Parts: sequence; C-alpha cells; structure tokens
Amino acid sequence: MSLERKDEYDHGEWMKEKDLTPVESVFLTTLVWMDRRFRIVDYLEILETLYYRVNLQMPKSHTEQYNLDNKFWYWYPLYALGSFSTIAYVVAALSGALLGFYYAPGTEGDPSLAYNQLAFIMTDLNFGFMLRSIHRWSAQVMVAAVFLHMLRVYFTGAYKEPRELNWIIGIILISLTMVFGYTGYLLPWDQLAFWAGQIGVEMSLSIPLAGEWVAKLLFGGFSLGASTLQRMYIIHVFLLPFVVTTIIAVHIAIVWIQGIAEPH
Ligand code: HEM
Repeated sequence: MSLERKDEYDHGEWMKEKDLTPVESVFLTTLVWMDRRFRIVDYLEILETLYYRVNLQMPKSHTEQYNLDNKFWYWYPLYALGSFSTIAYVVAALSGALLGFYYAPGTEGDPSLAYNQLAFIMTDLNFGFMLRSIHRWSAQVMVAAVFLHMLRVYFTGAYKEPRELNWIIGIILISLTMVFGYTGYLLPWDQLAFWAGQIGVEMSLSIPLAGEWVAKLLFGGFSLGASTLQRMYIIHVFLLPFVVTTIIAVHIAIVWIQGIAEPH
C-alpha cells in the first residue's frame, strides 16, 4: 500500500461550504493535517474495532439480565474487584520501585541500616512519607480487594467448570499476595517487623521433620539478622514482582478468553 494519500476534494473549500464554527474547523483542520501525515483515521478505526472486540468479552449486567437485584454478590460493582486488585497492585509496584531508590536491607552484622534508611525516607526525603504511605496503603487495599474478589467469585459460583483452573491460579495469587505483605512487613526492621519475623521462625520450626530446614531456608537461621532481611528483601523486590505480574497476566488472559461467568 502506498504511503501517499490522494485527496479527492479540497478540505478548505469543503469546510467553507459546511459553514463550520471556529472550534469545529480548528478540530477538522488539525485532524486532516494529522491524517495526511500519520494516517491517524486508519489507526483510530483499528482502535475502534479493537474496542468493540474487547467489549464483546465484557460482562453484561447480570443484575439486569437475570433480575438478580436482591442478590448482593451479583451487585455489578463487585465485578470490578479483580480490576481494583490489579490497580492496587500497579500502584504498589510503582511506589515500591521508587522506594527502592532509597531503601537498603543492611549488611552482615548491621541490619539496622534498613531502619535508618526508613527513618531517612520518613523524615528527610522529599515526599518520602507520602511515598511510603502510598506503598503501605495500596498493599493493604490490594489484600482486602483480592479477598473480596475471591468472595464475589465464590458466591456467584464463578469458580465452577470451565473456570476451575483460574480459581486455582487465584488461590496461588492470594497466597503470593500474603507472602508479598509478610516479606514487606519485615523490611522496615522495626519492632513490629522483628517480632513478626520471630513468629515466622517459630512457625517454621513447628513444622514436623522439615521445620529446622525451612527456618534456615526462609529466615537464614533460627535467630533474626541481616541474612533474614536479605532474604525477605530479595523475595519482596526481585522474585515476587516478576512471578506475581506474570500470574496476574495469565489470570486476566484466561478471564478474557473465557468471558465472565453467567450466574449458576
Ligand atoms: C492478585 C490477585 C487477583 C487479581 C489481580 C485478579 C484479577 C481478576 C480480574 C481482573 C478478573 C475479571 C473479573 C472480575 O474482576 O471480577 C478476575 C476474575 C476471576 N478471578 Fe481473579 N484476581 C485475583 C485473585 C483471585 C483469587 C484469590 C481468586 C480465587 C481464589 C480468583 C478467581 C477468579 C475467577 C474464578 C475469575 C473468573 C470470574 C468470572 O468469570 O466471573 N482471582 N480476576
């Protein structure tokens, strides 16, 4: 296809004939100018087709379609909880990446560096308090949203055939969301973090036979120190972001392919 575009008529003349308002003619002139250079009308049409294709997969309002007005879990906004979880996750990921510029997990023998960095972020860094708050809040909102999303899926029976696999992927996601929360909770290395870590070690040790091995693997020993923090840090900022982002993408792709569940 040739990139050159042939004009069948003069747009200037055409606009004069149509007696357009100044706003309309500025809009049209800009559109024609852009279209001649970048073929934007073609691309807008592609976008429009894509929009309608994607929306074919979007849920119709079940409450309207099946007269479910009095059934709480079919209430339409609750179908947005999955997207709400995704948005909370994206906000947490972005604010976390920014926090990463200022946080450090501490060194062997001196895990208190983490706490000092936190103190710096909270008191000295411009917008640091806000950044940390956004990260903490979005993380907590995500946990709540994911849990409510799971309730919605359960009470509308959306986990049934053919969506069993996405339910199982969801179980993995909610578990990883909690691991995200726990590893992040330990990073400030304050009293809350330390004692939450201690509980984690004790819980690991209570596992029959494999307890000591698990405690060493996850916490770097039976007492907490720099190696614990290093492990939590790598899990939180390196492993989980890649794993969870991939699994969320697969989860949403499956929803897109299967469409939203009809009421059972
Ligand atoms: C990070 C966590 C999660 C994210 C970002 C997420 C995202 C989404 C999104 C955007 C949808 C589209 C429909 C909707 O929003 O309701 C969806 C549907 C679904 N989710 Fe999740 N989800 C997560 C966790 C879970 C959990 C914990 C479960 C269950 C154990 C689950 C099971 C499902 C199922 C079965 C569907 C299909 C529902 C239907 O067809 O009506 N998801 N998810």
